[in-house]
Amino acid sequence: MNAFASAPGKIILFGEHAVVYGRPALAVPVTQVHVNVEVLDSPRAGIFIHAPGIDLHAELNTLPADHPIASVILKVIQRFDISPLPNLEINISSTIPVASGLGSGAAVSVALIRSLSSFLLHPISDDEVNTLTYEIEKLHHGTPSGIDNTVITYNKPVYFIKGQPVEMFKVGKPFTIVIGDTGISALTKESVNDVRRLWLKDTARFESLFDEIAQVALIARRSIESGKPELLGKLMDHNHSLLQELTVSSPELDQLVIVAREAGALGAKLSGGGRGGNMIALVEQAKAESVASALISAGAQHTIITEVQ
Ligand code: MEV
Repeated sequence: MNAFASAPGKIILFGEHAVVYGRPALAVPVTQVHVNVEVLDSPRAGIFIHAPGIDLHAELNTLPADHPIASVILKVIQRFDISPLPNLEINISSTIPVASGLGSGAAVSVALIRSLSSFLLHPISDDEVNTLTYEIEKLHHGTPSGIDNTVITYNKPVYFIKGQPVEMFKVGKPFTIVIGDTGISALTKESVNDVRRLWLKDTARFESLFDEIAQVALIARRSIESGKPELLGKLMDHNHSLLQELTVSSPELDQLVIVAREAGALGAKLSGGGRGGNMIALVEQAKAESVASALISAGAQHTIITEVQ
């Protein structure tokens, strides 16, 4: 007996950081990268986890209970009230770079929860997958808004407001995004904490920056739904400058953003927690390859071309 599940990566198009403070944000899945999880019966006693990408080969009980992968498995076992524990081999592989703003942590949780639920014959709804994944995100990421687990669970473009029912948005006309990875790993938790410190010191200014980001996200949603994605370029540029004011950009991100614009992108911004990780650029489809190679020449570690539809 075996079971399998896969989960995509994600990018935030508009509204990162402000979303932690109740403002709306837009995120879409990135299916070019994914986490795969396979669960198999094991001839040996125990639950063995193999994640060669992070050099992890261990039995569940030898890991601390708050280990990112162990905590998901323990939560599922508790949720389904499984006893005695089955003997399992769990194989995890991922093409989503870690700590890069593409949602690798949430994708591991979603794929693990779904594969275990299927192996253990305990069906689980999308809403429950989302709730469990959010609980795991809270264990490891401080004060996440919940946008990563939501877009990855439902695998659809989402218009997200913290604490409100999940809302999808329609894409009136497909558009192309080039994702460029600075190759610098940056923990979202840290940039979120830094923004919180600054917000506490200068609440009025940060609240008004968040309001401005919310306006950008609202206009962006309307542009996407009404089939005018070309309008997103200027909005991305504006969102990037607001993120710079929040102090979450970095010289490398700024450089890739400038290079993308010079290579013909309609607009560009950092995406996710910032300080490193990925940036995104809106491009006409015909220019995608040349913008991607300009990013590589400027030091991007890799690029992904993705169609939002
Ligand atoms: C991370 O993908 C996006 C942030 O807004 C954090 C969050 O929403 O939890 C930076």
